[in-house]
Amino acid sequence: MNRKVTVVGGGNVGATLAQRLADKELADVVLIDIVEGMPQGKGLDILQALPVEGSDSRVLGTNDYKDTANSDVVVITAGIARKPGMSRDDLLNTNYKIVKECTENAIKHSPNCVLIVVSNPLDAMCQVAYKVSGFPKQRVIGMAGVLDSARMRTFIAMELGVSVENVHAFVLGGHGDTMVPLPRFSTVAGVPLTELLPQDRIDAICKRTASGGAEIVGLLKTGSAYYAPSASTAEMVEAILKDKHKILASCCYLEGEFGIKGLYVGVPAQLGAKGIEKIWEIKLTGDEQAALHKSAAAVKELVDILKV
Ligand SMILES: NC(=O)c1ccc[n+]([C@@H]2O[C@H](COP(=O)([O-])OP(=O)(O)OC[C@H]3O[C@@H](n4cnc5c(N)ncnc54)[C@H](O)[C@@H]3O)[C@@H](O)[C@H]2O)c1
Repeated sequence: MNRKVTVVGGGNVGATLAQRLADKELADVVLIDIVEGMPQGKGLDILQALPVEGSDSRVLGTNDYKDTANSDVVVITAGIARKPGMSRDDLLNTNYKIVKECTENAIKHSPNCVLIVVSNPLDAMCQVAYKVSGFPKQRVIGMAGVLDSARMRTFIAMELGVSVENVHAFVLGGHGDTMVPLPRFSTVAGVPLTELLPQDRIDAICKRTASGGAEIVGLLKTGSAYYAPSASTAEMVEAILKDKHKILASCCYLEGEFGIKGLYVGVPAQLGAKGIEKIWEIKLTGDEQAALHKSAAAVKELVDILKV
């Protein structure tokens, strides 16, 4: 295996992501955490599943960043997860320190990697990783839009009783309550959702999508979602490792696109070996544009608190 992916944070999202990447034999995988023994144990457990899965990925759990050297992609999932009643924004200061430290350590050993940030509050943590790394904006990307779009796709497929494979959806904006599901750009076998469902059903799907994370937090009682988040992150990693030029809703640093400047916000982006190849500046209606700007303003509030 000549590709290497490091997953920082061996908790629910990180370990599940490491498992997905190894199962798919996409790369050798290093799982790193501050807790001693835990990443080693999970790494060994994932490795021992691979004879059954038919994958020759090498998986290593560690507490030492030296083991992460020369990774092609580094995914940061370290941080604390939301507890019931806790907003993503409450996580801000704790996860700021964690993401800063993880970024500094990771890039020391993998100066040419593409960084994918997963830790919440997502958009603000992307800004932290971008500023701390000094990487070009193309190599610091956030995962949220793939997950939010996957949730919307699930709800559309459930509503219409069709295969999820027929459903495409786009959710843009910040990864919070102000996210912007776009029914006009969401399709079932190429037919826009707006032609298939009445407005009240579309509104209900958009609402459930926007509170998709909170719904799961409420059910789990401890911790937050990780199966769909890890699957969504794996899709981004795969697009980069395989240089697929795949368009996925991703959290990107905008410098004027969609009228937003100097901020990480979720937009349609084309991903390949170098990270973000192109931001797809689709034409929005006045209402959609206003919703995106409202969402960007919510991100800016957090970024301003952190002064990054
Ligand atoms: N972007 C998204 O769509 C999305 C989706 C799900 C979860 N998340 C976020 O991802 C993060 C992880 O979620 P989880 O469910 O895996 O949480 P978790 O608590 O299961 O795992 C977090 C892990 O990070 C580790 N950690 C803490 N500080 C560290 C440090 N300095 N260095 C290395 N490791 C460190 C912890 O030991 C723990 O194992 C949270 O911030 C969560 O809110 C984001």
